[in-house]
Amino acid sequence: MTGRAVVTGVGHYLPDRVVPNSEFEATLDTTDEWIRSRSGIERRHFAAEGETTSDLASHAARAALTDAGIGVDDLDAIIVATSTPDLTFPSVATMVQAELGMTHGFAFDLQAVCAGFVYALANANALIVSGQAKRVMVIGAETFSRIMDWSDRSTCVLFGDGAGALVLEAREGEGTAADQGILAMDLNSDGRFRDLLYVDGGVSTQQTGKLRMQGNQVFRHAVEKLTATAETTLDRAGLTGDDVDWVVPHQANIRIIQGTARRMGLSMDKVVVTVQDHGNTSAASIPLALSVGKQRGQIKPGDLIVTEAIGGGLAWGAVVLRW
Ligand code: UT7
Repeated sequence: MTGRAVVTGVGHYLPDRVVPNSEFEATLDTTDEWIRSRSGIERRHFAAEGETTSDLASHAARAALTDAGIGVDDLDAIIVATSTPDLTFPSVATMVQAELGMTHGFAFDLQAVCAGFVYALANANALIVSGQAKRVMVIGAETFSRIMDWSDRSTCVLFGDGAGALVLEAREGEGTAADQGILAMDLNSDGRFRDLLYVDGGVSTQQTGKLRMQGNQVFRHAVEKLTATAETTLDRAGLTGDDVDWVVPHQANIRIIQGTARRMGLSMDKVVVTVQDHGNTSAASIPLALSVGKQRGQIKPGDLIVTEAIGGGLAWGAVVLRW
């Protein structure tokens, strides 16, 4: 028998305000057509004034608890992947813990930018298979609208706000790729590329920062590195592309998603795509896509799923799991 971390609940939350591409035409030298054709994005959600990452995360967490059919007392830990916390500290995770009324266990944030959810899944899996926690809430939540330079058309049209959450639970498996739960993962980073995507300020530099990106450079790394990490992870699980039911990629750009699927030899019919409706929500994009994919009836119990993401650092990775 092998300990496995199995998904037993999923949920998401998107702020009410929907911003179509056309809204940017009034203030920037851009068009709906350019944004759609270069990124696949049609609209995104922005948090209301005063609405914070922990608010979004708490809504998503409640939805995931309901979906799992458990209460907050059943959780042992909360991990929040975010690069846009409410405050420098305490963590968003402890704010969610308090909001949910959870007075036991432990909660912490993890920051790996757009790869944050993949890193958080790997950490939750480690806690579960080592016996340190039985049920872990893993959340990706972001308010990237707060770090946009609204005069930079090459970045501010691409990002959005939102949150998604999974409940992972310890179960016994046979130790084969037929098991439910997380089967394999692959994490990478290379800080030599840190200038390709970063925020030009923070607490230690005493500046208020905005997101800066050399988009076409990140694009080039993305397709190559995402394909490699997805294939490495499948190989570790003893599987191939033929076994995949759904790729649930980080939703940054439809052309990256299509390019990666093509290189993996997979049809776009096997890819969950939400980028048109959410834009790039960084660490929130994968759990949002998992939740929407389940709602749409795409993802079903027993499906073999590959998630992959890349972002600032550069940091990237993949997780293979059976739903
Ligand atoms: O989540 C973290 C990972 N991030 C990503 O994966 C993002 C990766 N990169 C991308 O998605 C794409 O590179 C972008 C969507 C950011 C840009 O697409 P691109 O095809 O790589 O375009 P580009 O950056 O090479 O720019 C092409 C042209 C430039 O004009 P010139 O220099 O050719 O005259 C830009 O100034 O498009 C211009 N441009 C725009 N034009 C109209 C850039 N942004 C805009 C805009 N509207 N919003």
